Amino acid sequence: MTTAVYPGSFDPMTNGHLDIMLRSMRIFDRVIVAVLNNIDKRCMFTVEERLAMIKKVVGNYDNIEVKSFEGLLVDFLKVEGADVIVKGLRGVADFDYEIQMAHTNKKLSQDIDTVLLMTEPCNSYISSSNIKQIVHFEGDISGLVPDELLEEIYAKERKNRGI
Ligand code: PNS
Repeated sequence: MTTAVYPGSFDPMTNGHLDIMLRSMRIFDRVIVAVLNNIDKRCMFTVEERLAMIKKVVGNYDNIEVKSFEGLLVDFLKVEGADVIVKGLRGVADFDYEIQMAHTNKKLSQDIDTVLLMTEPCNSYISSSNIKQIVHFEGDISGLVPDELLEEIYAKERKNRGI
């Protein structure tokens, strides 16, 4: 049985992330979405909120779990009995970063491999950072994030601004 871990900040989850989750579920027996509990990074959503949002979208599938992690990703994989890291690749800019991370993780743990899945072209321009910026300026993010999350993302922005 192959267990893959799909790590990220997911601040917030996008349709690009969803695409990678759904395709990972078809390739691997078990997929764990691992939400980084980034203590030193300012996030729009708390780790609990990010976990709940992802569970709302993919929580009904049998072979996917959603968990948070701190520290080294390879240590999380060992605890979970996983041996594959899945990452999404939108284009060459991602590749530079991902190959560096893949080699670093391989150096840290020889038994762990990274599989890069190319995002669908329709999702290749989507990023959590862009979504936060659009929401901040009251733009339309429909089609960029799962429909179930739209209201929650706008509500959080209003709350952050005290509206
Ligand atoms: O969605 P992101 O922010 O690009 O995800 C980055 C993530 C979570 C995959 C990466 O920051 C990570 O793996 N962090 C855990 C620390 C670690 O193991 N780093 C690799 C060795 S330097």
